[in-house]
Amino acid sequence: MRALTWHGAKDVRVDTVDDPEIVNPRDAIIKITSTAICGSDLHLYDGVIPGCKPGDILGHENMGEVVEVGPKSTLKKGQRVVIPFTISCGGCFHCNMEQYSACENSNPAEKQDASAALYGQPMGGLFGYSHLTGGYSGGQAEYLRVPYSDFGPIVIPDHLEDDKVLFLSDILPTGWMAAENADIQPDDTVAVWGCGPVGLFAIQSALAMGAAQVIAIDHYPHRLELARKLGAKIINFRETHVQDALMEMSGGIGVDAVIDAVGMEAHGFAFDNMLEVVKQKVGIGADRAHALRMALLAVRFGGKVSIPGVYGGLTDKFPTGALMEKGVQLKTGQTHVQKYLKTLLAKIEDGTLDTTFLISHRLPLEQAAEGYKNFKEQQDTWTKVVLKPGMEATA
Ligand SMILES: NC(=O)c1ccc[n+]([C@@H]2O[C@H](COP(=O)([O-])OP(=O)(O)OC[C@H]3O[C@@H](n4cnc5c(N)ncnc54)[C@H](O)[C@@H]3O)[C@@H](O)[C@H]2O)c1
Ligand SMILES: [Zn+2]
Ligand SMILES: [Zn+2]
Repeated sequence: MRALTWHGAKDVRVDTVDDPEIVNPRDAIIKITSTAICGSDLHLYDGVIPGCKPGDILGHENMGEVVEVGPKSTLKKGQRVVIPFTISCGGCFHCNMEQYSACENSNPAEKQDASAALYGQPMGGLFGYSHLTGGYSGGQAEYLRVPYSDFGPIVIPDHLEDDKVLFLSDILPTGWMAAENADIQPDDTVAVWGCGPVGLFAIQSALAMGAAQVIAIDHYPHRLELARKLGAKIINFRETHVQDALMEMSGGIGVDAVIDAVGMEAHGFAFDNMLEVVKQKVGIGADRAHALRMALLAVRFGGKVSIPGVYGGLTDKFPTGALMEKGVQLKTGQTHVQKYLKTLLAKIEDGTLDTTFLISHRLPLEQAAEGYKNFKEQQDTWTKVVLKPGMEATA
């Protein structure tokens, strides 16, 4: 089959690789109909997440049609399914607590050492996201093997087209959990750093949860405009002093909740960020935490901090003082996707949530490398790329 493979920083290619096969009784194989490129994929593309090997197939935002099932799969051939990016067994200690991204069974024993050394215990398995998370092939391909297919995937009714439901695989639950982790109360002012897909869905979710005002921060005009259309007030950090503006917009006490939807590759010419750009270039595992530092300064005493943005390693000059002295609540993590699927699918079906506005480009799988390059280099207008195997080439 054809698949998008990783070969090093800024080097991804569509290659011919072996078709996936059923390995375990609970597996299923799906024929991919839509698969998206995520901001998390850019961390792999930029080479700042350790543990990728040449030839690895990327892609964790997947949906398609079931074409083969193992004897213990509950799926049926022909069903359309969205696949959570988190691979979870559904029955371990963490899965039983609905902490699905921490599944203890999905990362094979021989792959666990690196993440256990970094984090104290091993990570759960994720699709297409390095050998730290199990080395599973991703779905930016024609076919995908889905482990635990009796537990993870959600079956999609035929009347809902791919574009409406694809983002259930990751960014919609991620935005939702980010807002949930910010513990939003009806009169809250919430500030969101980053108007990428995750930030935009966090904004949409925070407003749906009843936040009084949501303030979106980025430097890309089109992305900020999308945030404004969702109902957020906007701040362009290249034009406005963010800290001063947020103090004024929160009546001088700081914002009630902050959401860092930027993660480990912050942009901007702030001194700490410039220094960290260099550190990240020379050392693997050095995170750029500029947005998180800003968020910790902006949150009010006793406020709430939610971090959906991905961090992988270590960061210097982290404001532990602000964190402790302000007595904030901090919640973060890879999203427990399976926990939110039914609720969010119902909201898509009844029209409460529409995520199709986000898609800026649909490309055939064969043009996936072009999709990565533009999603990286033309972030303002390339807001979300959906890859479709078999689609006709575009100009
Ligand atoms: N927790 C999870 O399970 C999970 C799931 C999906 C994605 N993520 C992570 O969420 C983050 C965002 O993902 P995305 O797909 O929206 O990525 P993206 O790269 O498309 O968007 C990031 C946005 O942040 C903005 N930004 C950069 N520096 C900034 C700064 N200093 N201040 C304000 N804005 C700034 C960029 O301009 C961009 O618009 C990534 O780190 C991604 O890895 C986490
Ligand atoms: Zn993703
Ligand atoms: Zn589990």
